[in-house]
Amino acid sequence: MNAPLIDPFQRPISYLRVSVTDRCDFRCTYCMAEHMTFLPKKELLSLEELDRLCSAFVGLGVEKLRITGGEPLVRKGIMTFFEAMARHLQSGALKELTLTTNGSQLARFAPDLAALGVRRVNVSLDTLDDRKFAEITRWGRLPQVRKGLDAARDAGLRVKINTVALKGFNEDELFDLVDWCAHEDHDLTFIEVMPMGEMGEEMRLDQYWPLKDLRARLSERYTLTDLAERTGGPARYVRLEETGQKIGFITPLTHNFCESCNRVRLTCTGELYMCLGQEDMADLRAPLRASADDAVLESAIRAAIARKPKGHDFDYSRQGVSGQMSRHMSHTGG
Ligand code: GTP
Ligand code: 5AD
Ligand code: SF4
Repeated sequence: MNAPLIDPFQRPISYLRVSVTDRCDFRCTYCMAEHMTFLPKKELLSLEELDRLCSAFVGLGVEKLRITGGEPLVRKGIMTFFEAMARHLQSGALKELTLTTNGSQLARFAPDLAALGVRRVNVSLDTLDDRKFAEITRWGRLPQVRKGLDAARDAGLRVKINTVALKGFNEDELFDLVDWCAHEDHDLTFIEVMPMGEMGEEMRLDQYWPLKDLRARLSERYTLTDLAERTGGPARYVRLEETGQKIGFITPLTHNFCESCNRVRLTCTGELYMCLGQEDMADLRAPLRASADDAVLESAIRAAIARKPKGHDFDYSRQGVSGQMSRHMSHTGG
């Protein structure tokens, strides 16, 4: 048995997030510029190469694999890749295979995903208003996503809605979102907006809605009980006693969760980012292509994990933004 991956802060690394494409069929304003330059297709790892890389991580003790993008379901042939990863579910090496998606293609893919052993999907959705949805995603249309969500439910997939808390945008929809998720039986997690991509400092601060404020607002109507439950991701959960609903909070800004970080991120070109909020990365494409022997790749992975930083430096206090990343979220995978 291979020694597990342990970083310099004694954190076991058991969760790999893989961005299979930097492309997306939406252009969410907080995530991408309207006119993005995407990677030339020849830069991308092939699906076979992604399989080999992910399988190497599984061999080193990764138990949770989350497929992201960009929008993962716009990558051509992506079901072949899910099929390849499903074998690690079947062998018992992987405990969870899942994805984070904008939902636009779920109507088409939900049944196949479920058949391959995916049990839940995280779907990004920031508003329930058709007009506002088109405004924030620029290219997305809400009815298409609703169809995707219905298809996910019909296929038996559990859905977690990820909502970025945006001041002046979805503040007024807090209770509508909560009620809608109760009605649809979806879990719901709110996320604090992080300084990723080149958005101006002032705009970022304007849109930042700290989750401690959102939580205070929630508790005006509901009794909140903190839950000890974890899914292996950074969310902390509460139960709304009146409805029994579970609500998650991802708080990179107001409460740093890096001390319990268990994950690294692989991009579609084979770069391994040891932290979402730091520039350092390791190129795994070269060792992958240098030899058909996985030993070379494995030692490159271990060397990268040995450099994993303690955490991000995101900070909006002192009336400014620090820890800003020039990389867009779509590059590293949300
Ligand atoms: P589950 O708990 O398994 O549902 O997943 P998760 O919360 O790890 O994954 P999800 O894709 O739902 O993550 C939601 C968002 O949380 C991401 O899009 C990021 O914005 C944020 N996030 C996830 N992991 C990290 C992390 O390591 N660091 C930071 N700063 N943010 C993260
Ligand atoms: N801050 C926080 N979350 C973000 N996402 C994209 N950009 C940001 C950001 N700057 C989220 C999306 C989606 C996931 C992939 O990442 O809303 O839930
Ligand atoms: Fe882990 Fe970095 Fe995210 Fe912190 S910011 S939880 S160290 S990936």
